[in-house]
Amino acid sequence: MKIVSSIEELRDQLRGQLRTAFVPTMGNLHEGHLSLMRLARRHGDPVVASIFVNRLQFGPNEDFDKYPRTLQDDAEKLEKEGVYVLFAPTEKDMYPEPQEYRVQPPDGLGNILEGEFRPGFFTGVTTVVMKLFSCVQPRVAVFGKKDYQQLMIVRNMARQFALPTEIIGAETYRAEDGLALSSRNGYLSADERAEAPVLYQTLNQIAEGVRTGNRNVAQLEQQAMDSLAQRHWKPDYVSVRRRIDLQAPSTEDLEKNEPLVVLAAAKLGSTRLIDNLEI
Ligand code: PAJ
Repeated sequence: MKIVSSIEELRDQLRGQLRTAFVPTMGNLHEGHLSLMRLARRHGDPVVASIFVNRLQFGPNEDFDKYPRTLQDDAEKLEKEGVYVLFAPTEKDMYPEPQEYRVQPPDGLGNILEGEFRPGFFTGVTTVVMKLFSCVQPRVAVFGKKDYQQLMIVRNMARQFALPTEIIGAETYRAEDGLALSSRNGYLSADERAEAPVLYQTLNQIAEGVRTGNRNVAQLEQQAMDSLAQRHWKPDYVSVRRRIDLQAPSTEDLEKNEPLVVLAAAKLGSTRLIDNLEI
């Protein structure tokens, strides 16, 4: 596996490749990330991964400085997965001058759910993803459903800009107790780690409620928020949405069995966890 940090070296390595499958990450890789590498390999060749902790997508009070950086370990894992090139740019490589041009997702998608609680987050994501795509020029790129809204925003961006990159969604990889793997799980204390699967259990309860015909979605959401709060979580949102556009379902949508997804974000201690479940 080649590890390159400059955009120029990356382009040299990939010259003439037409079937590149790309997996962008921020590193501190776990089995969830590695499952994306395996899916990428089924859709293209070579597989290219990137590791870049993208300052643009972190808010002023978020964990940019303490975000885990474990390049050595990560590179060993990627090598074992048969990744051909790891692109690990420094901040100077990626942003040699202030990144003043940005890609702005539409308000209706970029400012709801995660976007409401993390202003500017999705603009930071789409800007870096557009730039990474421009560097790697992949035919396909793989994103996890764990970050459901991110996947949808990137997919819509690729479509609206007619990018030659197909966006593939990968299923969420979970620990045996249901907790979705995340680099941020490393921040949890032992007690918090034991409590963390409750988020996924909560999503399952809501999904079960909707599936068994409960049309009072607002009540299901409120009950879930209340019970999380009682267990000392600080929920930002628990919300049932249409899969197609992440808008709230109408009564008619519920009656017609419109495909839905329930999404949640909540803080456990000082760690913010997100998860979702397709209904
Ligand atoms: P990061 O959080 O490192 O995630 C990289 C990719 O791995 C994303 O597509 C994410 O959805 C996926 N992923 C994370 N945990 C997963 C799990 N448990 N199961 C399946 N997939 C999982 O998401 C980002 O980085 C950044 O926003 C990025 C897209 C790289 C732009 O900076």
